[in-house]
Amino acid sequence: MASLLIKNIGILQTPVGSYSHRGKEQGENLKLKNAAILIRDGIIAEITADGALPEDASEADEIIDAEGKLVTPGLVEGHTHMIFGGYRQNEIPLKLKGAGYLDILRAGGGILDTVTKTRAAGFDELYDKTEGFLDEMMSLGVTTCEAKSGYGIDLETEVKLLEVLKKLNEDHPMDIVSTFMPAHVVLEDWKGREDEFIQLCIDEMMPYVKERNLAEFIDIFTEDSVFNVEQSRKYLEAARELGFGLKIHADEIEAIGGSVLAGEMKATSAEHLIVIDEAGMEAMAKGGTTAMCLPGTSFYLGATFAPVRRMIDEYKIPVAMASDFNPGSCPSLNLQFVMNLGYLKYRMMPEEILTAVTINPACAVNRGDVVGTLEAGKQGDLVIWNAENLEMLCYRFGSNLAETVIKKGMVVA
Ligand code: NIG
Ligand code: FE
Repeated sequence: MASLLIKNIGILQTPVGSYSHRGKEQGENLKLKNAAILIRDGIIAEITADGALPEDASEADEIIDAEGKLVTPGLVEGHTHMIFGGYRQNEIPLKLKGAGYLDILRAGGGILDTVTKTRAAGFDELYDKTEGFLDEMMSLGVTTCEAKSGYGIDLETEVKLLEVLKKLNEDHPMDIVSTFMPAHVVLEDWKGREDEFIQLCIDEMMPYVKERNLAEFIDIFTEDSVFNVEQSRKYLEAARELGFGLKIHADEIEAIGGSVLAGEMKATSAEHLIVIDEAGMEAMAKGGTTAMCLPGTSFYLGATFAPVRRMIDEYKIPVAMASDFNPGSCPSLNLQFVMNLGYLKYRMMPEEILTAVTINPACAVNRGDVVGTLEAGKQGDLVIWNAENLEMLCYRFGSNLAETVIKKGMVVA
């Protein structure tokens, strides 16, 4: 039985519970001073405060002195497109000359360009590149992450991407939750035949992926010039029938009804929501759908920021934040920067931010019962921060403040 004691924690701060937090509760965290935590066989055995030590502290195999620093749960990254071939730095000059995200896509660049490069990349190349991203994420404090396919579009490449993610989930300390996203873009040969493509997803791709248990969730890009609401509804209904959890890229550039659909279908999460309207917020609140907000994408696209204050205060929608890491609209996997943006651009309070990068995304990837908070019985995933409190972590930016990252009771970064 391997055990790890972390003592002399200045502040241990965590949301509490295994459900997504909304409204006022989004901003409620437990704060323990002069705390200690004992992790046994990867699971939190006991947490103590006010200078007391856990009962079996003296038998711990390893002891870490947190030197009065802040400890939080390991961060949960709820939305990435981290498996792709190539990069797209060539798009920046086009952007600077005024081309929009959809202009570049319509001209055959953007996601289409990444699809070509991803199809050309072999299993090992994708494995090594994605492993590097996982290492980097961990060093920044992330201990569980979601990863979407979506740069293959044909079944063969999509399966290759999901197989790489499956292997990495086995090999790498990161817990990876896979999302299948064949409806990420309309390729040239499917233009005008989007309905047929959706039917192909339903008849062939989804059953294949489900049978092999290669993904837990399904996602679709519901957007102007991509897939419309009718197509999205049909796709998601079929996916639900097969047992996939539902996610939607909604209201990223145009509000064509994606968030309303997400709420109506009680999707687990709707993601982006930059231009969400009243109808969308109302539907999501009613459907219990989590808002997965991606401020790094707003930053990188030069777009506005999702109306997160209204989601929390008026509509009581559970809010999560993620990086959206991808080679186009957000080539950064730094969730600490996302926290900074949540503070300054969404005007969230630090406690709300912590909830948005721990328990709420954990629930949105169906892991709320095992990670996302520091409580006895949950996985021993945590970060010792080079910060005296959470306010400091939300305020400093551009540096990596994750000092020690612990996954299932083991130091991993
Ligand atoms: O979430 N919007 C669709 N998908 C990604 C971008 C993918 C890309 O540009 O490669 C997003 O922003
Ligand atoms: Fe995305």
